[in-house]
Amino acid sequence: MKLFLDSADVNEIKKRLSSGLIAGITTNPTLIRKSGGNPQHVYQELIDLGINDISMEVIGDSEEELFSNAMGHVKTYGDKATIKLPCSVDGLKACKRLSDINVRTNVTLIFSASQAILASLAGATYISPFIGRMDDNSLDGMKLINDISNALTGDTKILAASIRDPQSVGAAFSLGAHICTVPVSVFDKMYKHVLTDKGIEQFNLD
Ligand code: E4P
Repeated sequence: MKLFLDSADVNEIKKRLSSGLIAGITTNPTLIRKSGGNPQHVYQELIDLGINDISMEVIGDSEEELFSNAMGHVKTYGDKATIKLPCSVDGLKACKRLSDINVRTNVTLIFSASQAILASLAGATYISPFIGRMDDNSLDGMKLINDISNALTGDTKILAASIRDPQSVGAAFSLGAHICTVPVSVFDKMYKHVLTDKGIEQFNLD
């Protein structure tokens, strides 16, 4: 069981790292755009903070382009880079080539158990099923985690993504996710329970 932060906001990430509970970071082009930084700068800052597992999304119109962009990241960031690839024909071909040379991969935008199976057969280190986006579209994100967990047999780890609330973290882990990646707002809420606050207040009084 591991917890990642789903963010490209280096200052916000830095504040939560001191907890000692964060094992990695997932980014995507939208998160990087929102952070206002450029990808290279964000990745380097995260490495400087001591983060050892950073999902870096590669863009490309072909297997070759995805693979060569991925190799550029591997050259620059070494084993800190986890190459994030789309679950497409070209994305999975690039995934297979990268996994064959022991580069860590994260196949993203997974919305079905079939996609998860293909990504796992392509040697993906992680697969990222998007819970929140399933739920947004009246599909059952948690059922997807359960289905994938029942279907997969290899070494691929289920990295539950697109998480919108702390309850989903507990549910995803209990249904077989190995890792949850959460926005910083969800991470902060995971500490909270009204009965804990009440209990602390009473114990302090007593
Ligand atoms: C995962 O790696 C993605 O960056 C992320 O979880 C997407 O979440 P969203 O659906 O909230 O954009």
